[in-house]
Amino acid sequence: MRIHSLGYIGVESPGIEEWRTLAPRVYGLEVDDAPGGALRVRWDDRAYRLALHPAKEHRLAYLGWELPDARALQAAAAELTAADVEVVEAKPEECKERAVRYLYYFADPFGNRHEIFSGQLTFEGKFRGGRSQSSFVTGNQGLGHAVLVVPDIEKAVDFYTGPMGLKTSDITHVGGPFGEMWFLRAANPRHHSLGLIQMDGMRGLQHVMVETRNLDDIGIAHDRAHEIGLPMASSLGRHIGDRMLSFYVRTPTGFDFEIGWDSVQVDEHTWSAQYYDSHEGWVGEVWGHEYSHLGINPTIHPVRPAPPAADAAALRADTKAGS
Ligand SMILES: [Fe+2]
Repeated sequence: MRIHSLGYIGVESPGIEEWRTLAPRVYGLEVDDAPGGALRVRWDDRAYRLALHPAKEHRLAYLGWELPDARALQAAAAELTAADVEVVEAKPEECKERAVRYLYYFADPFGNRHEIFSGQLTFEGKFRGGRSQSSFVTGNQGLGHAVLVVPDIEKAVDFYTGPMGLKTSDITHVGGPFGEMWFLRAANPRHHSLGLIQMDGMRGLQHVMVETRNLDDIGIAHDRAHEIGLPMASSLGRHIGDRMLSFYVRTPTGFDFEIGWDSVQVDEHTWSAQYYDSHEGWVGEVWGHEYSHLGINPTIHPVRPAPPAADAAALRADTKAGS
């Protein structure tokens, strides 16, 4: 199957109220109230791109992957089923809660809930943003990207580039506690919709990236993050690989948030994956991106023992808790 793009992300956290200020003031995003005390953060005309659910602990609840239409979605669900992935068709009330027309869900090998959908609720021309120039790179490139911590990179890559059909853009051996990082893309020019970092025995959401169209947005966000006193997870810099100019803060909802600008665009027909290896020399940054060593963010948790295959129903119930 060829996933079109990363459409939405859901996170549970005790700190969601902070986004009422954080989203518009720091990043120029919009916030709406949603059922169940949730907040929806918007950065284009979609009903939301980031859903924040109140909860006692920080946790990735779900990733929502967009398919081009209902027929492609049905075919994708059938392909996953044929690959022995337990896929569930969502009930109408679950579709309504996610603000999508069609929805299926399943778990990855580590128990993360993934959703595939078609037809996210859109309010054409509604997005205004928190400042006059607010405009973000979305459209056919989806919301931006998410980076997950996984306990077993080979197993993860097998699943995401196998049944889920993502393609490899780059591989970096970063060294230290992380080992290899993989950058995977969907069927669009964004360099990666999903990044994967290995940490033994751990899983969770390392960061979310939104890409602005204006360099000044990076500067303003940087000023305001300092004003508010948000912890900087990484200073301003430009990555190798996707060549994104960005900086990262540790959000009150646990995960790190990257605002970026000027990423490369991948041409599916000419791109070949690069391999950067810290054993062979420096694989750092074009410049900057000095990490602040804040430690592992609280959205990353120890992996619980995998349930036996026969217990798929229990796994489903567990992952459904994020809905
Ligand atoms: Fe990133």
